[in-house]
Amino acid sequence: MQKDLFAFESHNTPAKPVNVASVPQRSLFRYPGGKTWFIPRLRQWLQARIARPKLLIEPFVGGGIVSLTAVFEDWVDCVLMVELDREIAAVWETIIAGEGEWLARRILTFEMTRENALGELKKVPNGLRETAFQTIIKNRTFHGGIVAAGSGFLKKGEAGKGILSRWYPATLAKRIRDIDRVLGRLRFYHGDAFEVIRNYRDDRDVVFFVDPPYTAGGKNAGNRLYTHFQVDHDLLFRECSELAGDVIMTYDNSEEVRHLAVKYGFEAKPIPMKNTHHAEMTELVIGKNLAWMGDIDRVSEASSASTTRNYGLTATHPV
Ligand SMILES: C[S@@+](CC[C@H](N)C(=O)[O-])C[C@H]1O[C@@H](n2cnc3c(N)ncnc32)[C@H](O)[C@@H]1O
Repeated sequence: MQKDLFAFESHNTPAKPVNVASVPQRSLFRYPGGKTWFIPRLRQWLQARIARPKLLIEPFVGGGIVSLTAVFEDWVDCVLMVELDREIAAVWETIIAGEGEWLARRILTFEMTRENALGELKKVPNGLRETAFQTIIKNRTFHGGIVAAGSGFLKKGEAGKGILSRWYPATLAKRIRDIDRVLGRLRFYHGDAFEVIRNYRDDRDVVFFVDPPYTAGGKNAGNRLYTHFQVDHDLLFRECSELAGDVIMTYDNSEEVRHLAVKYGFEAKPIPMKNTHHAEMTELVIGKNLAWMGDIDRVSEASSASTTRNYGLTATHPV
C-alpha cells in the first residue's frame, strides 16, 4: 500500500502530484527504497528509445518493481534481475524455479498471528522455498519491510492492526500467479551487481536500471535497510559510464552523488516527491542523456545549492 506516496512532475512549477498509487503494484515485497515513483519515468525513458531493448538488467533488484513493470507492460523482451541478499534472492529463485504456486498456497494457507509468525521464523528453513516463505513473512510483518538483522515485528501497523496490517494473502498469491505467466521472460542471478555490469559492458542492445543502496559519502540511510549496503559508489559510476548500452541510475540527492555524476559525465535531474511520512525530498535520476525527461535541470556542483534549496529536508527512503 503506497497510497500516500506522491511524486511531482516538476519542482519548478507548483506541485502537481502524480499519485503513484495508480501504478500497478506487481512486486511481492514492500521494499525499503522501492522505486514505484520511478515507474512513470521508466515508461517515458523506454518509449523514447528508437530501438526496443532486448534486455533490461536490474543489478540491484530488491523488490523488482521496475523489472516486473518492464515485462508486464512489454517494454523489453527480457529482464535480468540481480540481487546479493540471500533471503531476497530465495524468493526470486523459488518463483523462477517454478515453485511460485507452492509459495502462493503456503501464503494462502498460513494463519497469520504473532505466535505463528514467531514459530515459523524460529524454524531452520528446509530448502530454498522455505527460506522464501520466511522472507515473505519478515518483509510483510517487520517494521518498514526491513528484512535485515536488527528489524522486528510491526507494533501498531496500519489502523492498529499490528502484524496483520500488511499481510494480504490473496493479493500476494495473485501477484505470484501473475508473475508465473511471464516466467519465460524473467532471469535471476543471485550474485554481485558489478560482475553482471562488467559482463554486459559492450552490449549495445541492453539497458540498465541501477538503484543501489543510498550510502554514498558515508550516508547511513541504507545501512539499516539492507544486509548488503556497502557499495563502492565511485567504482559503480565509473563502470556505468563505460557501458555501451544506456543506463539510468537513481540516487539520493546528496552532494557526493552530484559530484560523482559530474565526475563521470552524467546528467542528473532531481525528482521531488513526498515520502510515506509526508516529508518533502528529492531523489536524482541520473543518465548519459536525459533529454527524454523534458526540461532538464542539469545538476552541476555549482547549481546544486539552488537545486536543493527548497527540498533540503532529510528523509528516510520512501517505503
Ligand atoms: C535500493 S535497493 C533496490 C530497490 C529496488 N529498486 C526496488 O524497487 O525494490 C538496493 C538493493 O541492492 C542490493 N545489493 C546491495 N549490494 C549489492 C550488490 N553488490 N550486488 C547486488 N545487489 C546488491 C540490496 O540487498 C538491496 O536489495
